Amino acid sequence: MRGRNTAFIILPGRTDVVMCGIVGYIGPRKALRVVIDNLKKLEYRGYDSAGVAVVENGRPVIVKKKGKIADLESSLDGQVMDGQLGIGHTRWATHGVPSDRNAHPHPDCTGEVVVVHNGIIENYAELRRELREAGHKLASETDTEVIPHLIEANYNGSLEEAVRAAVSRLEGAYALVVISSREPDKIICVRKDSPLVIGLGEGENFVASDIPALLRYTRDTYILDDHEMAVITREGVQVKDVRTGEARPKEVFTVTWDAGQAEKGGYAHFMLKEIHEQPTAVRETLRGRLKEGGVSLPEIPEEVIRDARRVFMVACGTAYHACLVGKYLMERIARVPVEADLASEFRYRDPLIGPGDVMVLVSQSGETADTLAALREGRNRGAHVVAITNVRGSSIDREADAVIHTLAGPEIAVASTKAYTTQLVALTLLALRFAEVRGGDREQIAALVEGLKNLPELVQEVLDTEDEIKELARKYSSSDDVFFIGRGLDYAVAMEGQLKLKEISYIHAEAYAAGELKHGTLALIEAGVPVVALVTQPDLYEKMVSNITEVRARQGRIISVVYDDDEKAREFSDEMIRIPRTDPLLAPVLAVVPLQLLAYYVAVERGCEVDKPRNLAKSVTVE
Ligand code: F6R
Repeated sequence: MRGRNTAFIILPGRTDVVMCGIVGYIGPRKALRVVIDNLKKLEYRGYDSAGVAVVENGRPVIVKKKGKIADLESSLDGQVMDGQLGIGHTRWATHGVPSDRNAHPHPDCTGEVVVVHNGIIENYAELRRELREAGHKLASETDTEVIPHLIEANYNGSLEEAVRAAVSRLEGAYALVVISSREPDKIICVRKDSPLVIGLGEGENFVASDIPALLRYTRDTYILDDHEMAVITREGVQVKDVRTGEARPKEVFTVTWDAGQAEKGGYAHFMLKEIHEQPTAVRETLRGRLKEGGVSLPEIPEEVIRDARRVFMVACGTAYHACLVGKYLMERIARVPVEADLASEFRYRDPLIGPGDVMVLVSQSGETADTLAALREGRNRGAHVVAITNVRGSSIDREADAVIHTLAGPEIAVASTKAYTTQLVALTLLALRFAEVRGGDREQIAALVEGLKNLPELVQEVLDTEDEIKELARKYSSSDDVFFIGRGLDYAVAMEGQLKLKEISYIHAEAYAAGELKHGTLALIEAGVPVVALVTQPDLYEKMVSNITEVRARQGRIISVVYDDDEKAREFSDEMIRIPRTDPLLAPVLAVVPLQLLAYYVAVERGCEVDKPRNLAKSVTVE
């Protein structure tokens, strides 16, 4: 069990990013009411469409709608649905735009098998082809839809066996809930890499992707593990190994948290939960992107990459800081000139951008007004527009020529954490793809691909040092000013470190290119001033140590971020934050994590409202 508290009872050893919400009910009540009530408990996580299926007079009736649960309820108005078996879903689009058609539940050809799904089916394109060739009619653009059709194709009188056969064909991550009018006395669900919880009642049972969706009706649960399936009837729940069909013993887990705690997965704040979701968010963003010695990024046409004169990376705030890393990587690995620009500045400076240029817009929300305006400016001037965004169906997602999606899942805390690290991953993939197409160093590309594969585990190793960072935060939480310094990529990470601290703890923080200190800022360093010094770039190591020495000569206190095998670091540090060694070009993904934790714990020490800092909004839709 990792991290701080009970959240991990749900997901031993890791925190999953739940992108969509699942609920299901079987019992004596009207299923529709229970399903809608429970879906509403998952609304806080963000979604773009919602749907339900209830077995009514022997047939599943599906109603689904783009937009909010309230929109779904309006379209249910006047429909009589008294069925006692039902499932529901809130979708956060990953394959296909948010639309009524792509919303879940999805039926098979006969409409008799209905499925809701969280996660990603990696081999869905191949399965779609195969199913189409076999005569199945697929109606949506989703990966999910292959599942009911696979179940239909494998049905020989047992829904359970058909689900097992279908699941054996799936690659990727899934939490599945299946109902069918052929066997209307049960719900079948399966979990792999995406959470599912069974709620245990008296003469009724429930299923959900997340505990908050159950608490209104029950606190007794079974937490499914990977490769487990559950056959849920009114009277009971049988848990089995989906691969062998053998029964699996389960212990009842009784939830003791209140609803608010449960929404945060047991963490004190969404920000902390999201920091802990980073290993999974990084893993999901890499999923299906890495191949032997290279990367797969089919979204961007090869000729666009080959012919690119220059690249413009444009964004705001944290996303802009990701661009600073992206610029460095692209220039270093692919040798293409890159300008990193603040979106609010870009459009007002009559930018020299045009045909042959590639513009990369980075935005978690996909709705930031300045970034959207910059996109339009670049597009109107003839640039090829690539977006990196976390929200499918957002304005930036829709208006770009090509999109690389970060799969961080909904980010709720105002201070961005997992969106940033996944933006770094997406930008690294982009730089590698440019290098591949433009004849970059094969060995370097292959080494970085190997490094990327290990990143999720290494991020987890950094998270495991949380207690030390908490201690450090306690020590420095009453500082008035904090400086962050670094060179090269470390400077870009310093920029993000200072923003995190500033925005949630309200401490004055500044980031400087370490070599710049002596040109003015050094005047501010006096005894006891904390200076966070990032030292992860070997080719700049000696220069960095000289800059650190300048600070120490003024009795500033150095909190260094260094590799765990750096023997010399003790000599120049008052405090050390250790990260595991990796390729220095990938170090930003690791180095930023302790800075996020530092900001978080300093803010908690100071009694700040971490998830909703003063004066700030999650999505800035005004210029
Ligand atoms: C800071 C933060 C903001 C956003 C910025 C852009 O923690 O979250 O600086 O990065 O407002 O937002 P998006 O990425 O949604 O365009």
